[in-house]
Amino acid sequence: MTSILFICLGNTCRSPTAEAVFRSHVTKLGVADRFRWDSAGLGSWHVGNQPNPEAVRTAAGHGIDMNDLISRQIGADDFHAFDLIIGMDHDNMVGLEAIKPSGSGAETVMLVPYALGREEIVPDPYGFGPEVYENTFALINEAIPPLVERLLG
Ligand code: 4NP
Repeated sequence: MTSILFICLGNTCRSPTAEAVFRSHVTKLGVADRFRWDSAGLGSWHVGNQPNPEAVRTAAGHGIDMNDLISRQIGADDFHAFDLIIGMDHDNMVGLEAIKPSGSGAETVMLVPYALGREEIVPDPYGFGPEVYENTFALINEAIPPLVERLLG
């Protein structure tokens, strides 16, 4: 069992999208029981809320349901509760380092370099239009299958 926490700044656009695409993919592959997953944000602005409506709409257009997801903030316990914490951009990685407790067992990695071997971030789409959300979705959707493959070893 591998446990994975997707994180971003707000836990309302990128990391819930990654969580929903991951859930859909491992379920389709029949390997959901090999994983535990969740998503969280470095910030607290959206705690308790459903994901950003544009992110939900974009994912739904690709057959991915994220209506049940609720934003939460990452905490120190998460560094002990998860094997792998996956950020979206360099700011996320800096933010993770800043709150990482000593003795943390979690490995922290950035999604696209880890999954696709490309030095690329998933840019923050917040406040942009539908095309930007489409690009965000496309990049996450490209990264998740090779991520799962890598984790299945
Ligand atoms: P996310 O996007 O990190 O992909 O969820 C953001 C959402 C909200 C904010 C920042 C980023 N915000 O500042 O409220």
